[in-house]
Amino acid sequence: MKPSVLVALRVFPEVVARLREHFEVETNDADADWPQAELIARLQGQAGAYITGAQRIDAALLAACPQLRAVCSMAVGYNNIDVPACTAHGVLVSNAPDVLTETTADFGFALMMATARRITESEHYLRRGEWSKWSVDLFAGSDVHGATLGVLGMGRIGQAIARRGALGFGMKVAYHNRSKLDPAIEAELGARWVNKEDLLRQCDHLVIVVPYSAASHHLIGAAELALMKPTATLTNIARGGIVDDAALADALRRKAIAAAGLDVFEGEPAVHPGLLTVPNVVLTPHIASASLPTRMAMAQLAADNLIAALGCGPNKGRPPTALNPEVLGTARLA
Ligand code: DGY
Repeated sequence: MKPSVLVALRVFPEVVARLREHFEVETNDADADWPQAELIARLQGQAGAYITGAQRIDAALLAACPQLRAVCSMAVGYNNIDVPACTAHGVLVSNAPDVLTETTADFGFALMMATARRITESEHYLRRGEWSKWSVDLFAGSDVHGATLGVLGMGRIGQAIARRGALGFGMKVAYHNRSKLDPAIEAELGARWVNKEDLLRQCDHLVIVVPYSAASHHLIGAAELALMKPTATLTNIARGGIVDDAALADALRRKAIAAAGLDVFEGEPAVHPGLLTVPNVVLTPHIASASLPTRMAMAQLAADNLIAALGCGPNKGRPPTALNPEVLGTARLA
């Protein structure tokens, strides 16, 4: 008998078809946002969960779903999954790194540019019919080329953004990260490690790409924003909650910094009302990785992981991007 899996979000039909070759598949074609109790109820008897960042996998869920053997996410970020609890329960976890790096970096760079050059603010003005003549400082923003790019979180996506800035736009790159880059990569990017405070003081355009965790909650709040130049911009494509959105809305309203570009929000899909009323912010609905080829690659990678984790397909027993491979071969997966 085929194992059963739950696909907790609407995904591409070709991905579901692949899963059906190996599993009995329950889908969420309506893309309903199931409350936790419903997610737990639907996971009863399922060996696998195919999820994204919106489903919370915690110790209570794991205790309530003893047949669950693998949780495979099509997101790279996995702050919604308690990986140590999964490991303790012998449940394999995977995410979807690498396949989205360049697409997400493209978007981060585009959002930073749109923010610096006031693209959406000026488009709204034009659409409102307010444009009556050319004038010398109409929507004058700040330059990107030659400016100092500050990257907070220098993982794969941070490096891809730094590469665009340094090699494409002649930007000076400063970064802050727990670990320093390999000196060869620093040299390629002309990137200098600085402490967080110096990064905030020195950069013209800050791009936040750090993973969310308890340690990065409100990493940027009122005190940090106060260190930034009044001409600086802030772009967040990482996760809501890393920036204190109330403090950011206040800083934007006071023009303590020039502008922000935000793809992620605390408590999304809700957006802090203060961010909706200030003009100097570009807002997008968590779409940094959303090119069709990349979303397909993320979705297929999660399927590859689930198929392999549950002992099927060419990689059986070897899910390609497992986060806790130490559980392979333990009771639940044996
Ligand atoms: C990711 O992959 O983590 C993106 O933010 C989508 O959730």
